[in-house]
Amino acid sequence: MKESFVINGLGGQHTLNGDIPVRGAKNDALKIMAASFLFKDTVAITNVPDIDDIGALSALMQSLGARVARAERRVEVSAPTETDTTLDRVMTKKFRASVVLMGPVLARYGKISLPHPGGCVIGARPIDLFLRAFQKMGATYSIDDEYYHIETKGGKLHGADIFLDIASVGVTETVMMAATLAEGTTIIRNAAMEPEIQNLATYLVACGSRVEGVGTPTLTIHGGDVLESKGLEYKVIPDRIETGSFLVLAALAGDEVRVTDCDPSHVRALLSLLEQAGVQFEVGEDAITVRKPAVPYKAVNVKTHEYPGFATDLQAPMTIFLTQADGESLVFETMFEGRLNYTQDLIKMGADITMFDPHRVMVRGPKLLTGRELDGPDLRAGFAYIIAGIIAKKRSVIYNVSHIDRGYEKMEERLRAIGVDITRVAE
Ligand code: UD1
Repeated sequence: MKESFVINGLGGQHTLNGDIPVRGAKNDALKIMAASFLFKDTVAITNVPDIDDIGALSALMQSLGARVARAERRVEVSAPTETDTTLDRVMTKKFRASVVLMGPVLARYGKISLPHPGGCVIGARPIDLFLRAFQKMGATYSIDDEYYHIETKGGKLHGADIFLDIASVGVTETVMMAATLAEGTTIIRNAAMEPEIQNLATYLVACGSRVEGVGTPTLTIHGGDVLESKGLEYKVIPDRIETGSFLVLAALAGDEVRVTDCDPSHVRALLSLLEQAGVQFEVGEDAITVRKPAVPYKAVNVKTHEYPGFATDLQAPMTIFLTQADGESLVFETMFEGRLNYTQDLIKMGADITMFDPHRVMVRGPKLLTGRELDGPDLRAGFAYIIAGIIAKKRSVIYNVSHIDRGYEKMEERLRAIGVDITRVAE
């Protein structure tokens, strides 16, 4: 059943008040679930967000013989000792993170067949770096009927010295997982350093994996045996993208809003820009309080970058912010070429935005937006539309919110608690 969000906008008023809690990070929870294939015992994961992508990965892993038990925000996964290593086409295409199963499944069971993964349409999103890394680790692959078939020699990957042309999050994670069970030592150079990768690596180390250089761009992994959790629970870190999106919303429509259950150290790049723009906030240990501005916000330039730079996943919310800041801001999306397309809809809402090329737009503000009917294009832009609808005057309808539900837990309920007029309706 397709559903929509109907939002009655605030027309630029700052009336939202209260606490809004951040849930566990989707991009952390999905990866540790995939990593469970490296374990001989059950992996218990806590602070798992109640979102559709978790259900999608659970179903895909169950189809490979894993046992997945999910209750509230806790998930327990037990990997099978043997499995048919072909990933279901429909299930795999539901989300991009299915691709990280490649590493653990290949390393544990010696082969994997999968179709090109799905996920948000935010650019080409090829898997060439994954394939090249596994080739270096001794695997071979063929393609038929839109399926990639990847196989190890003699059931084992071997260590390799791998330079990533792009500091890819998914490739870093899946190669790190694979290297844990490979023969010999693997070095990943120009590795991504996102907090989710660090959390995963720290846990793998606690369970017997030998990963060195966690949090740096060079990871050295000495391969070994299947891991054992021995009951050690994995705690998913707070979602830094949700944190940042709430901060933007609070800055644009809050009287006094406290974003709670977050890790402020993970959103430093955003806080730095918000500070320069004149946003008034106070940072606590696990909460950030944003207060209504005394003077109009100032324009700032944004350039997306791998962590600890400005997250591409926060680019859309930040662009909404800039429509309300005084002056010209350049937004440079360096990572994904389709990721500024949503700005066409903001223009229809009254924003003054010029696109120079698929990677760069100029935003001139402030411009009061007017609500309209919008189609939720991808997960992050979908949430940006929610923010746009809240600050606009009049009513907005966001159609097909399934992409938003993939990554955000019961968003309308949490927003209503701070005063947003938002309802979920069947289409
Ligand atoms: C992850 C996040 C996503 C975030 C992105 C960048 C998950 C589930 N998703 O996605 O929310 O936007 O990091 O922070 O964790 N690339 C190639 N070839 C490859 C792999 C990637 O060219 O084989 C390119 C991508 O097209 C993109 C760039 O590398 O332009 C970075 O993407 P990557 O870091 O891999 O993103 P994901 O892991 O897919």
